[in-house]
Amino acid sequence: MVSAMWGGTWDVRRFEEIDSTNAYLLRQARSGAPEGTVAVADHQSAGRGRMDRRWESPAGASLLASVLFRPDFDPSELHLCTVSVALAAAEACRRVAGVGAVVKWPNDLLVGEAKLAGVLAEAEFEPASCAVVVGLGLNVDWPGPPGVAGTCLNDLSSTPVDRDVLLVALLDALTGRRALLDTAPGRREVAAELRHRCATLGQRVRVELAAEAVVGVAVEVDDAGHLVVQTAAGPRTVSAGDVVHLRPG
Ligand code: BTN
Repeated sequence: MVSAMWGGTWDVRRFEEIDSTNAYLLRQARSGAPEGTVAVADHQSAGRGRMDRRWESPAGASLLASVLFRPDFDPSELHLCTVSVALAAAEACRRVAGVGAVVKWPNDLLVGEAKLAGVLAEAEFEPASCAVVVGLGLNVDWPGPPGVAGTCLNDLSSTPVDRDVLLVALLDALTGRRALLDTAPGRREVAAELRHRCATLGQRVRVELAAEAVVGVAVEVDDAGHLVVQTAAGPRTVSAGDVVHLRPG
């Protein structure tokens, strides 16, 4: 695969209203937009969540941002782009709001068991390159839709959080992690950070895959950032999927 060198700077494009920052960046990627292009919106009319769900948020209530990556490594490791955004978002929450969030493997941010942020990655494979768009929806001033056990920074922080300050902290925290992704030892470092911040380890889980569900205890995040689940039939390594933390027993 061929990828242009990324200069380490972000080209931030702001929108009051857009269909979806992910959809926008995928369109831009098809027209050749470079790595480091970022879309941020106050409101999305067709926000996308994982598993074909919609992602709803009132105008101005969340940090809605997507980042374009053009990574040069094996497709089996592309999920580390997503992981990097989740880890950078957790660091931004610590720095800006003093809020300690953990990662529900592979990329939701939780405070306790309440969801603070969700991440959605969408990839576009072109003949000679690969574009990965990673979108983050981080609850700032509302805890998410009814029916989802959610929380938001303004309910957890002693001072109101400015979304622009949060975005700057996010991109700042992402810069170093993105650089790590360029080498195999760096990618192992990102996976190690995920292991350190992962709330899923030790939990009984159900991992929803395309064709089946894997149930067991999450025992390891391996060097590639994959989750190892001890099932009744033995260990299973999963590289993607929607995870539910189950009650023990
Ligand atoms: C999830 O289902 O938990 C992932 C949600 C990801 C939502 C974000 S908001 C910014 C970006 N644009 C989208 O349309 N979706 C992602």
